[in-house]
Amino acid sequence: MSEAVIETRGLTKRFRRVVAVDHLDLTIYRGEIFGLLGPDSAGKTTTLRLLCGLMRPTEGTARVAGFDTVHQAEALKRQIGYMPQQFSLYGDLTVMENLLFFADIFDVREPERSQRIERLLRFAGLIEFIGRRSAYLSGGMKQKLALACALLHQPPILLLDEPTTGVDPVSRREFWQILTELHLAGVTLVITTPYMDEAERCTRVGLMYQGRLMVCDTPTRIRQMIEGEVIELQVGAFRQARQLLQDEPGVLEIQTYGEMLHLIVDNAAARLPAIAARLKEAGIPVLSMRQTRARMEEAFISLIRRQNARIQAEMTPPGAESHGE
Ligand SMILES: Nc1ncnc2c1ncn2[C@@H]1O[C@H](COP(=O)(O)OP(=O)(O)OP(=O)(O)O)[C@@H](O)[C@H]1O
Ligand SMILES: [Mg+2]
Repeated sequence: MSEAVIETRGLTKRFRRVVAVDHLDLTIYRGEIFGLLGPDSAGKTTTLRLLCGLMRPTEGTARVAGFDTVHQAEALKRQIGYMPQQFSLYGDLTVMENLLFFADIFDVREPERSQRIERLLRFAGLIEFIGRRSAYLSGGMKQKLALACALLHQPPILLLDEPTTGVDPVSRREFWQILTELHLAGVTLVITTPYMDEAERCTRVGLMYQGRLMVCDTPTRIRQMIEGEVIELQVGAFRQARQLLQDEPGVLEIQTYGEMLHLIVDNAAARLPAIAARLKEAGIPVLSMRQTRARMEEAFISLIRRQNARIQAEMTPPGAESHGE
């Protein structure tokens, strides 16, 4: 393994009663594309802000690029580029003016300044737009400009908070091409994203939930964590089918994806005929039914569900379930 560039130990941030980040132990190695995932409010943004030294932890420590995020925050700033979730470019400023503004902030002077700006404009495909006010850029272009601004001081570590949320698929692909080039150039990337296809491109991903890191591994190993196999099912009567199959032998869990049901079963091949028969018996038309490969998303939902079940069980005193209200 290469050298650890981010290391947190017991990193915790509380906001009154909310524990946004709860004893996080995270190690990220040089050159990784590390994906931080998790539902809304999981603590992803707070984690990135702690790593940037923008916020003091309530407890615990974080070292980034060898610097303590609390005591060496100034030195740390030169080592990291941070793209916040709500990145505020100056809408009234042009593309070029925004870049110059960030060059000033990071004290990037001539002759490097012009050379870097030119290279970044090319890199981000923004060369034709230098005179356009950033308020009039498309969503994808805004994000590319924001990334260019975060790269001006050539940081070896980049922290990106949902950089592609709400960006169209073509721009998302372009954005990832840039990230891939940065990765190949040896930059360490930490990225939060709600998109599972992006998570699959990471060297490792960490799933956060309620401030805790529930799992941290390669996408392949996370997919293997699902206990069972997946049957993808499209039916006429979606809710009815869900209800019906809940108690079907071998069905461990049912997840919904739009109009699709994903049945997590102990053995897909063995259970398929009985499931088909059950649906037929109930008069539910089957539009499609097939075994599919478990994705990271199923594994995550399954892990979160199991975690919730554990919490529920801990909170329910023994015997309480049988009494009712
Ligand atoms: N400055 C703050 N003051 C009070 N509570 C905060 C503050 N920042 C975050 N929180 C709370 O901490 C928790 C974690 O928030 P955070 O923004 O880190 O989550 P997130 O995983 O980035 O969520 P999202 O996917 O919505 O961006 C939430 O409950 C949030 O309300
Ligand atoms: Mg966030």
